[in-house]
Amino acid sequence: MSRTPSPEETDHDGRRARQWLAGRAHCPGVARDDLLELGSAMAALTAAAAEREPVAVTPAPVGVDPGAPIAKPLRPDLLRPLETNAEMRWAAMAGQGYVVPNDRFFVRNHTRSPRLDARSWRLRLFGTGLAGAPTRDDPVEFDLDELRRLPAEESTALLECAGNGRRFFADQQDEHPPGVAWDLGGVGVARWRGVRLGAVLRRAGLTADAVDVMPEGLDPHYVTGGVDLGPVRRPLPVAKALDDVLLAYEMNGEPLGVDHGFPVRVVVPGWIGIASIKWVGPIEVSATPLFSPWNTRFYRMFGPGRPADGADLGAQCVKSAFELAWDARVPAGTQVLLRGRSWSGAGPIARVEVDTGDGWRPADLVAADRGGPWQRWTVRWRPMTPGRCVLRARATDVTGAGQPDRADRNDLGYLFDAVVRHPVTVR
Ligand code: MTE
Repeated sequence: MSRTPSPEETDHDGRRARQWLAGRAHCPGVARDDLLELGSAMAALTAAAAEREPVAVTPAPVGVDPGAPIAKPLRPDLLRPLETNAEMRWAAMAGQGYVVPNDRFFVRNHTRSPRLDARSWRLRLFGTGLAGAPTRDDPVEFDLDELRRLPAEESTALLECAGNGRRFFADQQDEHPPGVAWDLGGVGVARWRGVRLGAVLRRAGLTADAVDVMPEGLDPHYVTGGVDLGPVRRPLPVAKALDDVLLAYEMNGEPLGVDHGFPVRVVVPGWIGIASIKWVGPIEVSATPLFSPWNTRFYRMFGPGRPADGADLGAQCVKSAFELAWDARVPAGTQVLLRGRSWSGAGPIARVEVDTGDGWRPADLVAADRGGPWQRWTVRWRPMTPGRCVLRARATDVTGAGQPDRADRNDLGYLFDAVVRHPVTVR
């Protein structure tokens, strides 16, 4: 269900940015001046955070340690803890099917996973983009049973953190953006089941004037640099909200896990992961553009060659990964089958090439995956000479976007799309 942003969406983002700069926008809970001031505070803070060693997250069975950021067990062979987050280990995908099993799906938490009670949970829609402009205090409500009675849809969709691969800005390009130092494991594909956000918006009385839709998370407020930025939230243009976005209550045939947004989350296929708000509660639907720190200070492209107020982010870029441990050992003189996956938020993968040290050659694509959100592939390799060796894979999607040797520099280290150099030892 991934797609290229329509020209109207691009126009919308441009217009929205101009309105924000002109002070004409609605930034619920955060004054525009606070957002601007926060910029410098954030830069200092995130730089300091980058210097810290990642703090290990203690595995916490549900209900035993409500203070731990992640509820599910973090098996060390499946997941690598990274502060309040955990990334999937690519070796844990070897021999797996198309989707990432829930036990190894990455978790990205700004604070921690809340334990919500499905019986008292309500989706609460309000704002000037709905008929009668219901207020936050008197919203249009849906409980979980009501949502489940609406026509259900299934979507096999890619979810990826915009910072996935950030570590390689440092390792391969000697650039040092702040933020979580993900390898390539901040990505996954799952089979999501739920109801279309568009169907719910229409039932709630969406008007022709609506321009933005902003879901909010029910996890603890994100507090940084001494400033309470409120609930995690990010606006979606109404055109996207009415397109392929789901309010999901199931993941790979199970109720959503505590860490993935129980009881209901937003899934925006192929877009930067922050758009897919977990533990959604309130949703503001507005006839004027909406802003939050998550589309003004973070999750924007800042830096050389970008507009002064940064460039908006939507779809994810092209990436490829081997289903192999970092520094894996490979037997000399034996033919091995290298496996991997490539993906893009802008459309299906058309072509994959692999280099095992003697030039680029085409990989064999798994036919069943054609047209899907990611593409599995294989390559046969018989390494003869013992020693260190570098494997590389690069893909091109149907829009023609590929993987360069060097990713575009940007201050916050988003969208690393360059070819990753994966070291192995032949013995
Ligand atoms: N929603 C809330 N409420 N709180 C969060 O911290 N993190 C976002 C998004 N939705 C986040 C959120 C980010 S940055 C990503 S990449 C995805 O959730 C990760 O989803 P996952 O943890 O289910 O993999």
